[in-house]
Amino acid sequence: MSFDIHSIRKDFPILEQQVYGKPYTYFDSAATALRPLQVLQAMEKIFREFNGNPHRGAHYMSNQTTLAYEAVRDQVQHFINAPSREEIIFTKGTTESINLVAYSFGEAFVSEGDEIIISEMEHHANIVPWQMLAQRKKAVVKVLPISDRGELMLEKLDELITERTKLMAFNLVSNVLGTINPIKTIIEKAHHHNIPVLVDGAQGVQHGNVDVQDLDCDFFVFSGHKLYGPTGVGCLYGKRKWLDAMPPFLGGGEMIEKVSFSGTTFNALPYKFEAGTPNFTEVIGLGAAIDYVQQIGLTNIAAYEHELLEYATEKLRTMKGMRIIGEAENKASVISFLVGQIHPYDMGMFLDKMGFALRTGHHCAQPLMDRLGIPGTVRLSLAFYNTKEEIDQVVKAIEKTVELLS
Ligand code: ALA
Repeated sequence: MSFDIHSIRKDFPILEQQVYGKPYTYFDSAATALRPLQVLQAMEKIFREFNGNPHRGAHYMSNQTTLAYEAVRDQVQHFINAPSREEIIFTKGTTESINLVAYSFGEAFVSEGDEIIISEMEHHANIVPWQMLAQRKKAVVKVLPISDRGELMLEKLDELITERTKLMAFNLVSNVLGTINPIKTIIEKAHHHNIPVLVDGAQGVQHGNVDVQDLDCDFFVFSGHKLYGPTGVGCLYGKRKWLDAMPPFLGGGEMIEKVSFSGTTFNALPYKFEAGTPNFTEVIGLGAAIDYVQQIGLTNIAAYEHELLEYATEKLRTMKGMRIIGEAENKASVISFLVGQIHPYDMGMFLDKMGFALRTGHHCAQPLMDRLGIPGTVRLSLAFYNTKEEIDQVVKAIEKTVELLS
């Protein structure tokens, strides 16, 4: 498939909807992306034609779902260039993936007085699980600060690292600032001290090619629904040396080798971390989403989104009272802003009534809002199905809102 915006938009019939009698214009893909017909059709096929619990039956349908489910594991492996399929664990999403690592890695490797380093620009999903671990183990969470432009202050990392540092966890892209973090440099630094790094790829994996071997990250996590796939599915990649040494997170069916009342032994990777009936319909939907973005090409997607980002940033910048929150050198297509004294909720509400879907508030990043001294932002997040015409329209709507509220 070549990058033809008109044919791409036809794959997203939701874009033809109206809300409040106005065309529906979607600028909230960072919260959850739209799903193309190809994903819906793949899932419908499972619901209609292939009901069978993977790995749990000798019958035809069970074998079919097992094959389809396991094929997506291979797909994910190649999508992020993981060394082996056994290092790909299916989860409910980024949040569950991080909780899994915080719990299981924490059980195996974190003791009283140990330290975890995160940053000031993390989403709650990459803060709270580490705080819970710290509470459980009497460990300490340390925070790498950011600059006013919204970039990590890497020069401060050395001051935070000690011989007690057990793990670092950073996002690849900030869901608020759009900053693309220099993850490879961070990992090199961390590995110099033998510290593993978890990369939260929830806002990164949909905007460009990810190669976990090139990054050399120890863990990489992402969600299906931000990658144009279904909700309720995500992935954890972990280096085998860590996953093998970590205890299971959830107990139940399929994660076992042998169960008796005197004790249980656990299954091999990846099944050790996949307790219970897998969300195979969603996993298969994720496979269709990966196919879809790969057909367009992540490089094409990144280039087009960058064009949209520059176009929207220029247009917004010229508006009176406009303050763009997050002006990093290297950004993905996420623009947070405030205008004058207008509260982000008021702005969001007016834009909504004009048919524009933008997220407002703290974006599950309250510590970042505290650092910036703001209550929240209005966030415009752009995907490859957005157009410059839509940007022109939302800019006009923002201008109108400012006029009404000032
Ligand atoms: N983490 C998602 C967002 O940034 C929900 O909107």
